[in-house]
Amino acid sequence: MLSLRLYKSTGIYDFFIKSLGYERSIDRFLSELAVDVEGPLRILDSGCGTGLMGLHFLSRFPEAKLVATDLEPNCLRTTLSNARLRNLDRNRIQTGIADISHPSQITLADGSAMELQKSSFHLICLGAVVGYSSCTETSLRELISLLAPGGVLINLEMNESPSGRFFSKRYHYSNITLSRMEQLFQDEGCKVLLRRFQIRHLPAKLTRVALIAQRAADGVHSSI
Ligand SMILES: C[S@@+](CC[C@H](N)C(=O)[O-])C[C@H]1O[C@@H](n2cnc3c(N)ncnc32)[C@H](O)[C@@H]1O
Repeated sequence: MLSLRLYKSTGIYDFFIKSLGYERSIDRFLSELAVDVEGPLRILDSGCGTGLMGLHFLSRFPEAKLVATDLEPNCLRTTLSNARLRNLDRNRIQTGIADISHPSQITLADGSAMELQKSSFHLICLGAVVGYSSCTETSLRELISLLAPGGVLINLEMNESPSGRFFSKRYHYSNITLSRMEQLFQDEGCKVLLRRFQIRHLPAKLTRVALIAQRAADGVHSSI
């Protein structure tokens, strides 16, 4: 499948998103998002690709640790080399293979299996990946269950504009509607916010939209 071929050649994908300014525009969008968190936070970037979301927050929160997963081992290698480019300490990052259909089940580099603990992440990053799940709704529910109380999930989802739909079709990305996704977050007890990209966020604006969900807090850890 074309989508999987593209992600296997991660070097080309990485070159493409850097040289077209895509990474920069996502970085700019994320840096404008207020995510006020206290203490050392645990971040999960599920379907990390080149790592742009997880690494952004690792740079922003010096005490944070990141678990980055993807189906493609090459993506994990590229995420680590991008971490080096950003001068981020390798010891703050754990990588593993995981299918977004079962995001909490991870295979580590030594072949051992690891299961992510429920309520253990303060921040979960998703970017155009849940549409590759065998069931988007099941994956989202599993991901929400990994959020700590008050934790935030940022999903930079494919938008429903003509360009977003074109690229989704081109890369065999099929998903539930954004309104269904919002409803699902609410049903799971999250506060949810839909944030559109602006002109200053081109070219990412052409394909992405942000769904930001915060799990109800028993003690407030973060706020959106
Ligand atoms: C469009 S890229 C997005 C990468 C990154 N999250 C971002 O926002 O730029 C989609 C990513 O999903 C990964 N992917 C595709 N199918 C997957 C699956 N079944 N499970 C986990 N990751 C998958 C690809 O390898 C690729 O890294």
